[in-house]
This record gives sequence, structure tokens and C-alpha cells, in this order.
Amino acid sequence: MTARDLPASAWPVPEAADVAASLPPAFRVGVATAAPQIEGGVDLDGRGRSIWDDFADRDGVIADGSAPRVTTDHRRRWRDDLRLMQDAGIDAYRMSIAWPRVQPEGSGRVSAAGLGWYEELLDAVVDAGMRPMVTLFHWDLPAPLEARGGWLDRDTAPRLADYAHVVGEALGDRVADWVTVNEPATVTIDGYALGLHAPGHARVLRAIPAGVQLLRGHGLAVRALRDAGVQGRIGIVNAHTPVEPASERGEDRAMAALLDLLHNRLFADPVLLGTRPAVPEGLPLPLRLAVGALARIRRRDLVDIHQPIDFLGLNYYFPSRVAAGPDRTGASPDGESAAMRDVPFHLVAQPEHPTTGFGWPVAPVGLATALEQLRDRYGDRLPPVVITEQGASFPDEVVEGVRVDDVERTSSIARHLEVAARGVPGVTVEGLHVWTLVDNWEWAAGFTQRFGIVHLDRDTLERTPKRSYRWLQELQRARGRRTA
Ligand code: BGC
Repeated sequence: MTARDLPASAWPVPEAADVAASLPPAFRVGVATAAPQIEGGVDLDGRGRSIWDDFADRDGVIADGSAPRVTTDHRRRWRDDLRLMQDAGIDAYRMSIAWPRVQPEGSGRVSAAGLGWYEELLDAVVDAGMRPMVTLFHWDLPAPLEARGGWLDRDTAPRLADYAHVVGEALGDRVADWVTVNEPATVTIDGYALGLHAPGHARVLRAIPAGVQLLRGHGLAVRALRDAGVQGRIGIVNAHTPVEPASERGEDRAMAALLDLLHNRLFADPVLLGTRPAVPEGLPLPLRLAVGALARIRRRDLVDIHQPIDFLGLNYYFPSRVAAGPDRTGASPDGESAAMRDVPFHLVAQPEHPTTGFGWPVAPVGLATALEQLRDRYGDRLPPVVITEQGASFPDEVVEGVRVDDVERTSSIARHLEVAARGVPGVTVEGLHVWTLVDNWEWAAGFTQRFGIVHLDRDTLERTPKRSYRWLQELQRARGRRTA
């Protein structure tokens, strides 16, 4: 069933004023973007190529055959986009820096023009009254580093640290919150296990070492930022999906625990506890041994990875339900992959929840579960949490050329905010960033999935605020923020 077939009662929209009253005054309502999905401007600043430019040039890997050359043209239209955020009274802006725009070869030479633009942009974010959160690595690895092995090569992590140092020195006085790496789990799973994302490797479980190097890159980048004397706080972002078995059968429980390891624990345990994740007991022995060997992070690397961090970024989209046995269709949340047929489990539908354009369940309650899991697993080692992404894609329609009545997205955002406002005891939730501002280039889905609170006309690049944007504006106005 698609979103359009559901009755309106599936998409209740809480009053903005009621949600406003439930949010603590200091809670930051933000938006989030990522450079490769919005910037375009590949001809400016001497920008180098990223693995996503190369990947998109391959046949059949991007749903609509598009490439990230123009995307939303934010590199040229950034002032319009900041104005949209400012008019909505947004408290905080999470953006990413394109590594290939700063270091076109991925190491060594720095583009003064690239760095200069980010200086200008961040000054304008601060002037607009928003708190800047900057992600260093949101998946756009410079292509020359992939040619040397990418995240399978131990030399990539120190390259990330060098780049972090360059950016930290230049922007360290104006960034409030630094994110080293965005979603190492997704890079590992989609980019190295299933071949759905750049760089397109389909190594199934043998993707795990790439994940370990991403974590090492995080740890070395934390140190590099501190060495550079940055004033802001430092954290990492991961996508945490609460996982449950499809039944109480032993096989389903063991496979649910395996996905929990591969998606959640492999990334959070080393960062927050400095330990390797425990391999689930119930797995068949050969699988248990294989996962154990691949996830055996060297002691020295664990020390590098386990750096003190000031906050944890949580991207929450949906919970997962798992059953044992591969899915013959190769279905995965981010598209179909032949490699998925070699994965010993599959995701099953959660019919109690409506779904997004991607088919992802809309389950605000899962956000509370994710927060509870983080608290129960990490206790006093869990720093304050920022929900760094939460959003939903729907095939919005423009009515009479001006209106986009995205009731599904409005409902989804509002109800996730209600859950964040309630919070869970023992966890500090500082804010929630809506993914995303303007409909953008959604990786392998190209332009087929719209996540924006602002509609993008792909031909004219014109931006039209949707109902969800207006709802957030009303929310922020009710909270006393200055809006247009
Ligand atoms: C990523 C975003 C992406 C969003 C929706 C997150 O995994 O950080 O870049 O667009 O999910 O798929």
C-alpha cells in the first residue's frame, strides 16, 4: 500500500503550538544536508572528483541515470537556502564539507577557493543566527583515494585526519559542532557489502574491515581536530536501527542479533566503550567464526577509535524486523542488490506502520526504542545525543503550481518531534535535525525520492516551501523564534 492509498487518519498532524509547548526551550530544531546531495558546482573552486561522480557514471547504478553534477545547485544558490532556513526560524544547520572541494586530490594540496567558500558560508550561517554543525565526511571520498584502495586501505584513515586538521585550522573558530564521519554503517553496508552505493563493492561480510577503517578515520580525525585547536564540540553520527526478530525462533533471534551487530554495535561499541562487539551466540558456527575474525579490531586501533567525544549523532529513520534466510529477490532498504542473496537474513514488512516512498516504515516509537537501547547499552558512557537526521521521502505533488500539501511528511516530522520532546529517562536529547531542506540527489535513488520540506523543480531549480516547512515555521514561531 502506498502513502496515497491510506486514509487521512494514517497521517495525523499534531498542532504546532502543542508540540512547541512540549519542547524544552533549549531544544534545537534543525535541518540537515550533505554536500554531494546539494552542492553541484562541480566546475567551481577547482573541485576534484569524488567516488560518487565516478560511481554515477556507471550504467544502471543510479535509479534515474542522473549524476550529482547540478543537484540543487546550492553552491550557487546557497544564499537562497540560508534565507529559507532563517525564515523558518531554524535553530541549527547541519551541513557537510566536500572533501574534494578542499583537497582535490584527497591529500596534500588545499584549494584556497574551496576552503574560502566554506568560510563565507559558515559566516553567513552564524550571521543568520543558526548554530553550525559540520560533517567532514558525508561519503564523498576523493576519487584518487579510492584508486589506492579507499576504506580497505589503512592509509585512508590518516588522510581523513590530515583533511580534518586543514579544515579545523581554517574553520575552528566558527563551527559549534563537528561530525567526523556520517553513518559508517551505511558506507560499510551499502558501499562495501551490497554494492548499492559508491564505491560499489559487493563483499558481503568481508565489508567489515572497511567499517573498522572508517572508525579509525573517526578516531584519528577527533585527535586532528583537537590538535588544530577547534573551539567546537566533536562527535560522530551513526544510523541506529532498533532490530527485532520476526519470531521467537532461535534462528530469527540470532539473525536479528547479527544485524544489530553489523548496523549498530560494530560502530557504537568501539567508539563509546573501546571494545569489540560480542558476536551473537546463536549463529551457526562457521558464520560465528567468520564474523568474529572480521570484527577482531586490533588493540592499537581500538585505542585510536576510542577517543572521548562530546556528543553522539543519531540518525533515526526506521526500526528493522529480521528473519533468518536470504531474500531471493535481493531486496534491501536502499534498493535491490544481487549480493543481498548471500546475506543469511532478510528484512520483513512491519504492516502495523505506514511506509514512505522508499518503503521504509514510519514508526516514531522506534526513535524512543533507539534512545533506550543507547542508554541501556552505554549507560554513563553515552554523551548527550543529537538526532542529526530524521526524515521521510514521499512523491509530493505541486498543486496549482504553488502548493505542496505533504501531509505524510508533516505528520511524520511532527510525531517524531513529539517523541523527541518526551525523551527517555537517562538520555539528554539536545535537538533534532530534519532531513532535509530542499529535495535533493538521493544517492543511488537519484532524484526519485523527495525528502525535502522545500520542493525542488528539477528543470528551473525553483524552491517551493511545502506544508511541512510551514508547520515547522509555525512551531518555531510558537517557541518564540524569529521567523519571516
Ligand atoms: C544519509 C543521507 C540520506 C538519508 C536518506 C541517511 O542515511 O545520511 O545522506 O539522504 O539517509 O536516505
